[in-house]
Amino acid sequence: MSSGGPRLRVLPASAWAATVADELLDRLAAEPRLRVCLPTGDTPVPLYAELAARDAARSPSWAQATVVLLDEWAGLPPGDPARCDVRLRRQLLDQLAPPPRFVPIDVDGSDDEAAARAHDAAARGLDLVVLGLGMNGHVGFNEPGSRPDDPTRLVRLAVSSREAATARYGAALTPTAGITVGLGRILEATEVWLLVTGERKADVLRRALREPEGVDCPASYLRRHPRLTVFADEAAVAGPRRRRPRAPGSAA
Ligand code: GLP
Repeated sequence: MSSGGPRLRVLPASAWAATVADELLDRLAAEPRLRVCLPTGDTPVPLYAELAARDAARSPSWAQATVVLLDEWAGLPPGDPARCDVRLRRQLLDQLAPPPRFVPIDVDGSDDEAAARAHDAAARGLDLVVLGLGMNGHVGFNEPGSRPDDPTRLVRLAVSSREAATARYGAALTPTAGITVGLGRILEATEVWLLVTGERKADVLRRALREPEGVDCPASYLRRHPRLTVFADEAAVAGPRRRRPRAPGSAA
């Protein structure tokens, strides 16, 4: 773990996406050949919308950059709306002109283990890994039980992740497995950003940053990285607002 600990940027919700976009585009301007690993999920949606809008307004070019997909469901057919490659293309990549080189995870062949090994090679030596935070402490599909030296691999999904595929993302069927860039590759990257928004993430963010690291919360291992930045909105740090106690005798 670095002596200084993670850089925690707490932002008003209204400025969150623009601030993270500014930092990412500064990074891209300084390093046009950036190799960046990007997540899907709901958290980065406003960031991707901001990046797409900036691109139309002439941001630094993505043409020489490479975007490596963080994780992917196994067993969902090509084009399924929950597929991470579909979502990242639709929300960001298809709106960048010219687009970066994209490295999806090849889950459409017959050998998911081989696909995971190939993606492990693609995920070596990344300049930047951007992550969301799962409610159970996962990053990518590094579910609880994952270890800090894990490679990119085929994993069994936690029940909450399986349910998210259909309930939140509209998958045609419920996947039980996925392929994820492993914590080992994430911790090898030059820099790591963890994106966390909304009060429902406050408890797991506190767990990840403040309590001893452990396999119950894979995100806690990110603190080992010497260049970890957490981009949180105020709600993710403050947690739920306390309800004001009702005055005696007032209506329900
Ligand atoms: C999903 C993905 C992660 C994502 C995380 C948080 O299941 N596997 O890559 O970052 O959970 O999702 P959300 O941003 O929707 O809360």
